[in-house]
Order: sequence, then structure tokens, then C-alpha cells
Amino acid sequence: MPKTRLRLAGVLAAVLVAAGVATGPAAQAHDRQPTLADLARRHGRYFGSATDNPELTDSAYTKILGSEFDMITPGNGMKWYATEPRQGVFDWTAGDQIVNLARENHQQVRAHTLVWHSQLPDWLTSKQWTADALRAVLRQHITTEVRHYRGEVYSWDVVNEAFNDDGTYRESLWYKTLGPGYIADALRWAHEADPHARLYLNDYNIEATGPKSDAYYALAKNLRAEGVPLDGIGFQTHLALQYGYPTTIEGNLSRFSGLGLDTALTEADVRMRLPATDAMLAEQADWYRQLTQACLAVRRCVGITVWDYTDKYSWIPGVFPGEGAALPWDEQLNPKPAYQALREALS
Ligand code: G3I
Repeated sequence: MPKTRLRLAGVLAAVLVAAGVATGPAAQAHDRQPTLADLARRHGRYFGSATDNPELTDSAYTKILGSEFDMITPGNGMKWYATEPRQGVFDWTAGDQIVNLARENHQQVRAHTLVWHSQLPDWLTSKQWTADALRAVLRQHITTEVRHYRGEVYSWDVVNEAFNDDGTYRESLWYKTLGPGYIADALRWAHEADPHARLYLNDYNIEATGPKSDAYYALAKNLRAEGVPLDGIGFQTHLALQYGYPTTIEGNLSRFSGLGLDTALTEADVRMRLPATDAMLAEQADWYRQLTQACLAVRRCVGITVWDYTDKYSWIPGVFPGEGAALPWDEQLNPKPAYQALREALS
């Protein structure tokens, strides 16, 4: 800007300030309503969303993603099939895109996930492994990926979905070949590679007390007693109106706090059979309110992440035909009653 115009702009700003009219970015920040992240931060919590690389070309979507949330999670970009598509050949393109976006928006990253039975590359699932060979592969994968993102991520979902609903170990490639000790090994290797990342076990259907949640409680207690670096348990919180609200969630979160662990709601959504009626959306809003209140009531529940924020990009319709409308924003990116309920619960 030429000097004279600069001086004129300065004079104009001074006149506006003298007239009591606020100017500049601070004033804009003051004028806008607080975001979910702002409201959560007042409680010492974060409010996050999952996201996925293909959606990042949608600028209306990224605008909300970049402003309402202070934590993001890659829905797919850090999974094994994406990061080590061929043995020993690592590809960080998708994960890096999410980490860079988070940095631009001053957000943190819940990294997801290192050890899972799903979305594994063919080279890993199509071979018969000896325990020694598979241990070496697992160790190299964890070490390389966690080192790559060292200092860049807040936490890792180190092991995802290790148990069946009845509380028995899932018969995954990892369990069948390595036995249950793969979980402690994975946590130790991840900790070696990034001592500052918060390390989680993460699963669904563990919000209410029951056999699966009990299995995590017993495992977490043992791991803590053995000095294994476990920092938290992630409660995915994929809920469905037709199955009822998990009323024991607050007590359940609390008992894990009692073990000295953080907890987090890591993949929250509340699906319903379509078409959604106003009554169903009101009930959904109430569930979002209740799960937020449950997290706020438990000291070590550190934050809530929705599994993407808009019905436009939800995983639900692809997996549960005839169900959906699970998120706080609709397919046109308009906030739903659930969004207001979240705001109220956090206010
Ligand atoms: O990559 C292919 C692409 O090449 C192909 O054109 C396209 C056609 O359908 O499919 C793409 O793969 C999809 C992949 O996401 C990447 O977009 C798969 O079909 C799809 O099944 C896969 O879904 C993901 C799902 O995990 C797999 O289980 C969802 O996006 C992701 O949100 C979901 O996330 C999981 C968490 O990791 C763990 N907890 C449950 C949660 C929901 O299932």
C-alpha cells in the first residue's frame, strides 16, 4: 500500500476507534459466537472431528472443519493400507496432508491407527507369518510411522478394536500369530518412538459397562501394573437410536479415570433409521447433550471427537444401508438440533 493511503487508513481506524467502533481481527474474534472448540476449552477439553482426504477439496466443508474444532483425526490416511502399501515402502501423503491442515488451522491431531485387523495391505494379509517375522514387521511399522509423526500429533490410537463384544480377544492376525502380548509390545514400541504422544487403546461398544468394557478395564489395570505406557482409553461412541442410550457411560468413564487413565469419546455419532423425523433429530440432540455432559462430569475425560461432523461425509450409509443422519451438521452443512445441544451442553 502506498504511504499516503497507509496514513489515511491509520487516520480512519483512529477515528473509528474514537467513535467506539472496534476494528481488526481481535474485534472480529470478539464478535463471532464461540465455536465448539472455544466452549470445550473453557472446560479444559478439546472438541474434534474426523476428516478424510477426499473431502478436503470441498471448501465449504474445510471452512467449518478449520474453525469449529481444535482437534482433527484422519479417518483413513494413517491406517496401514495407506502408510505402508508395500512392505518397507512408506507413503505419508494422506497423513501429512491432514497434519499440515491441522497446523495451518492451529489444531492438534489424534492420530489413528497403528494396529488394527481391518484396512491392512494385501502383502500383510495374504501371507502366512511366523511369530518372529510378524513381530518384526509390526515393530518396524509402528516405529517408522510414530517417528515420522513424532512431535506432530497429540495422541495415537495404538491398538484399535482388540476385543469381541463378549470380552474375548478378537482373533485378528495379530492375536492369532503373536498372542495377547502384542498389545503391550505395540504400546512400548510406540512410546519409544514418540515419548510425548498420548497412547490409547480404542474400541466401540464399550461406552456402557458390560463384558467388552470389563475386558478393557482388566487389561488396562494389568498394563498399568506392569508399567506399560498406556495413557488412555478411546470410547468410539458409535451410537444408534434403535439400541438405546448407554446410560452407564459416566460411571464407566470414571472407573477408567480411577486407574489413572485419560478417556476420550473418539468417534461419536448417533445414527437412526431413515427417514429422520423431527422427533428423532430431537432425541439425537438429547443424546449428544448427554454424552457431552458425561464427558464433562469425568475429570480425566479429555475431549470429544465426532466421526466427521457432517452427514455429507458420514461412513454410516455405506455400512448400514437405510441408516444415517448421524452427525451434528446435515448434508448441506447446516447445523442440526444436535449442534445446538452440543453448544448448550458445553456452555
Ligand atoms: O480407497 C478406496 C478407493 O480407492 C475406492 O475408490 C473407494 C470405493 O468405495 O473405496 C475406498 O476405500 C474406502 C475407504 O474407507 C477409504 O475411503 C472403503 O471402501 C471404505 O470401506 C472405508 O471406510 C472406512 C472404514 O473405517 C473402514 O472400516 C471409513 O471411511 C472410516 O471412517 C472408518 O473408520 C472406522 C475407524 O477407523 C474405526 N472405528 C470404526 C470407524 C467406522 O467404521
